[in-house]
Amino acid sequence: MAIRPVLRMGDPRLLEKSSSVKKFRTAALKELITDMRDTMASLNGAGLAAPQIGVNLQVVIFGIEGNVRYPDAEEVPFTILINPTLTPVNKEIEEGWEGCLSVPGMRGLVPRFVNLRYQGFDEKGKAIDRTVSDFHARVVQHECDHLAGILYPMRIRDLRNFGFTAELFPGEDIADD
Ligand code: NI
Repeated sequence: MAIRPVLRMGDPRLLEKSSSVKKFRTAALKELITDMRDTMASLNGAGLAAPQIGVNLQVVIFGIEGNVRYPDAEEVPFTILINPTLTPVNKEIEEGWEGCLSVPGMRGLVPRFVNLRYQGFDEKGKAIDRTVSDFHARVVQHECDHLAGILYPMRIRDLRNFGFTAELFPGEDIADD
């Protein structure tokens, strides 16, 4: 296990498209997922995508259970999602505040589909097929964007709704990372 450095916005590797995982149950995949879990936990992240630690593969992890960075967020079960496909259930879009471990200390208001079906595989190659909404749907869209080389600031409609966490939410107890 290892906590790996998280690449920050500006690093060109965050803008690349990731390749699909071809083989499951390999030592390399297991090690990658362990490192992602350790890294996300050490930073209290809600999610992490493999390219954020410099690995160009379609692997994301996410989950929120009593997270200090998102104290008011609904709980999302811890999930390992590989080779994901996202399908919006309908056209309903909502804006919500997001942060990212690759954009530390900042938050932005980002439009996302409210209702989302996502499919993919877990670390053993078992199929995942879920239909979710609201914050769960937002987290999945954010993490899977990383696999397409998209960071959330690229989706902000009005850049007045982008800034430093402490300035946007003065007096609120939100982790500054
Ligand atoms: Ni992110």
